[in-house]
Amino acid sequence: MTAPLVIETPTEMAAWSEAQRLDRKRIAFVPTMGFLHEGHQALLREGRGKADVLVMSLFVNPTQFGPNEDLSRYPRDMQGDLAKAAAEGTNVVFAPSAEHMYPPGAQTYIDVEKMSQGLCGDRRPGHFKGVATVVAKLFNIVRPHVAIFGEKDYQQLAVIRRMVADLDMGIEIVGFPTVREPDGLAKSSRNTYLSAPERVRALALSKGLSAAVALRRAGETNAVTLRAAAYTQLSGQVDRLEYLEVRDAATLALVEQATAPAVILVAAHVGRTRLIDNMRLR
Ligand code: PAJ
Repeated sequence: MTAPLVIETPTEMAAWSEAQRLDRKRIAFVPTMGFLHEGHQALLREGRGKADVLVMSLFVNPTQFGPNEDLSRYPRDMQGDLAKAAAEGTNVVFAPSAEHMYPPGAQTYIDVEKMSQGLCGDRRPGHFKGVATVVAKLFNIVRPHVAIFGEKDYQQLAVIRRMVADLDMGIEIVGFPTVREPDGLAKSSRNTYLSAPERVRALALSKGLSAAVALRRAGETNAVTLRAAAYTQLSGQVDRLEYLEVRDAATLALVEQATAPAVILVAAHVGRTRLIDNMRLR
């Protein structure tokens, strides 16, 4: 287990990748905001298997946090992250400062218009603009052949796929299934905010989605009925339900009948913590 090379400036990162490309090496890339858990590690493992070299970025991107969100208290653990990255065979951890990523004077942004609307886009104005812009910047610096994203952030994955297609970025985007705790809760860096009783109530998200999945498997396709099955589990457990919707798995358009591949997505607050989850209906 060799420690990854830590690179802090975009110039050095670009030079490293250029050397790999000249050497005909295939580069896999996993962008993260750190505080790695088994979900991130599964993404790294997937990337490791898809290329010759593996780069992970570790950057808590300020432009994707709203003014009242958790940027300042977002959990951090650089040493732990480096050990986990090393365990998965990561060659480089790119950990730039905000000053390096956003030097004064920047005024160019990427807005993936329709895909960024609805769901998290409506509750977190500007969030996907921040995500798309930082991911495009990271892609331009790291110049990967393939990049791996979690299905846990389903709308984010759809936004990135749309951006890469629309802007001819020529990067293969791989979506990886959500990694869960043994009881079903989707792994998230934000789970550390939950108190013990909140952790119990948070289980309602995956339980609710699973109820809809089971009903769909039993043959039910009506979106209102599928949603109601999930809602029954969620009500009384979460403190505020932001959305619970059945959408087309590819376009994210709202559907009335889940006959084509669909996805049920939820965002809810448990205590002060905002959690999201989703499951495919097929
Ligand atoms: P972050 O929340 O750190 O997540 C990094 C990657 O890990 C994302 O692709 C996310 O979908 C994936 N991930 C998180 N939890 C997962 C789980 N339980 N199972 C599988 N994958 C999981 O998402 C971001 O960072 C940022 O928005 C970023 C893309 C880095 C841009 O700043």
